[in-house]
Amino acid sequence: MEQEAQRTVLQFYADAGVETVEGEMPGGIWNWQVSAPAPRPEPKPSAPSRQPAALAQARPEASIDEAIAAAEAAAASADTLDALITAITAFEGCPLRSGATQPVIFDGVLGADVLVVGEAPGREEDRLGKPFVGKSGQLLDRMLASIGLARAPNSDQAPVCITNAAYWRPPGNRNPTKAELATCMPFAKRFVALSQPKLVLLAGKVPTEAFFPDVSSIIRARGQFRSLECGADGATVPALPLFHPAFLLRQPAQKRWAWRDLLAAKAKLKEQTA
Ligand code: URA
Repeated sequence: MEQEAQRTVLQFYADAGVETVEGEMPGGIWNWQVSAPAPRPEPKPSAPSRQPAALAQARPEASIDEAIAAAEAAAASADTLDALITAITAFEGCPLRSGATQPVIFDGVLGADVLVVGEAPGREEDRLGKPFVGKSGQLLDRMLASIGLARAPNSDQAPVCITNAAYWRPPGNRNPTKAELATCMPFAKRFVALSQPKLVLLAGKVPTEAFFPDVSSIIRARGQFRSLECGADGATVPALPLFHPAFLLRQPAQKRWAWRDLLAAKAKLKEQTA
């Protein structure tokens, strides 16, 4: 790893409470030790997500139900990731589309063993057309590097692909609404199915709830593997909810949980690729 990259990864370890590092980075990951974590925090009631003032205004002519049906048909007819990307880019049914500069679909290596799914693009992502390029993206990169993963892989790091549950930026960086997400999820599910990853990392509450509607608390869900259906044949892939890097930037003490979850992800990936 480059010196600068090593320094930022070490900073992540320090913040996460890692006390000793043995072996080489990142291959010696199995020997890295973490101090005893603080007790699991009690879930706090989350602030109500701000709804768009008038969803109907942002909505193209089709109703949400029609838009979801159109998304399902377009996603199902895409047989390759390239075709899916073309279908997402052409899709007009998501109410977020009219307020965004461009769709933000993926970064990294298509078809990588690890697929990270985030929430929705923010301002920088909307401008550049790539997910996780702002501050939380920099932290995500450090988190991934800490377990030997990178969106631009090299000889020390294995590739990841990074995508989002919603492809267009919600105004003011609010969370996407359920209706907005519902128009993107057929594509997100197809993205998983066509990528055939060995492991899916769900960054934050939004993608976790979008894939697993029974989840109501990321604090309870994080660190617990779930089975994500990824094809018509009933195939599944392990999916691990994680704290979103933006949350970790606001609550650095929670990085120790993220570190534990990353170690669990690394172990699961090893198991899946053995
Ligand atoms: N947060 C996300 O969840 N996705 C992005 O693309 C950027 C920030």
